[in-house]
Amino acid sequence: MQVVRTIAEFLRLKRHLCRQDASEKLRRPSVGFVPTMGNLHDGHMALIRRMQKDDDIGVASIFVNPAQFGPAEDLTKYPRTLEDDLRKCDEAGVHLVFVPDESEMYHPDRSTEVAVGEITDRYCGASRPGHFDGVSLVVAKLFNIVQPDRAYFGLKDYQQYRVIDRMARDLDFPLEVVPCPTVREWNGLAMSSRNNYLSPEEKTVASTIYAGLCAAAIAFNGGVSDAAELVRKAQAELDDAVKLEYLEVAHPETLEPRAVAERGDVMLVAAKVGATRLIDNIILGSETNNAD
Ligand code: PAJ
Repeated sequence: MQVVRTIAEFLRLKRHLCRQDASEKLRRPSVGFVPTMGNLHDGHMALIRRMQKDDDIGVASIFVNPAQFGPAEDLTKYPRTLEDDLRKCDEAGVHLVFVPDESEMYHPDRSTEVAVGEITDRYCGASRPGHFDGVSLVVAKLFNIVQPDRAYFGLKDYQQYRVIDRMARDLDFPLEVVPCPTVREWNGLAMSSRNNYLSPEEKTVASTIYAGLCAAAIAFNGGVSDAAELVRKAQAELDDAVKLEYLEVAHPETLEPRAVAERGDVMLVAAKVGATRLIDNIILGSETNNAD
């Protein structure tokens, strides 16, 4: 595995690897890509394992992207565990890990924006203004640098996945955006770097978020399609200490809120437990929500 800090070095090494692989396999190798902000857990590793299975050359990036943090969000507090992260990537067989610093990624007078539009306004976009513009900007830049054939994103961040998928389509990035199931703790809590901030009691409280989503999905399977009723079913499971930001049923691609749910719709939730903001979601009428 090689750890690369500059774009020029990345391009050089990738070219070399691709040439080597092509002459061994007598065909153009496929390049997979998993962008991350580090502090890698089993959710990230599931994406990396999928990439290692499906692609000839595996690329991961670790970059805590300042452009997607709001002024009130503490970028400096984001957990940084580079040594551990690199060990995990190495063990998983990743070929190249791109670890740029801020000056490598952003010109001081950068002015170009990537805005994906209405789909970024609701839900997490409403409470974190500018967040998805920062995400789409950095992912567009990383796509241009890495030029993967496939890029893997977790369904845990459902809105982010839809924003990136739409950006890739609208801007004709010649790659496939591959959604990967949410990896959960034993109690159903979706894995997240933010879970580190939760006390054991808060983790138990937080696990009722997924219990709520499951209750809604079960009610949907039992014939309830009224979105308000599904929301009530989910709410009934939540611990009193879960402070909801949003809990809604939405169209899976446009993310338009639904009054009457249809199979394949997504129920999206964001809530605070103590000071920690958590997000989760479930696809209604689907058996493929979770990783095995
Ligand atoms: P980060 O939060 O590090 O997540 C990187 C990828 O891991 C994302 O695609 C996310 O959806 C996925 N992921 C996180 N937790 C997961 C879980 N429990 N199950 C499955 N997948 C999970 O998301 C970002 O970084 C950034 O916004 C980024 C896309 C890298 C742009 O800066």
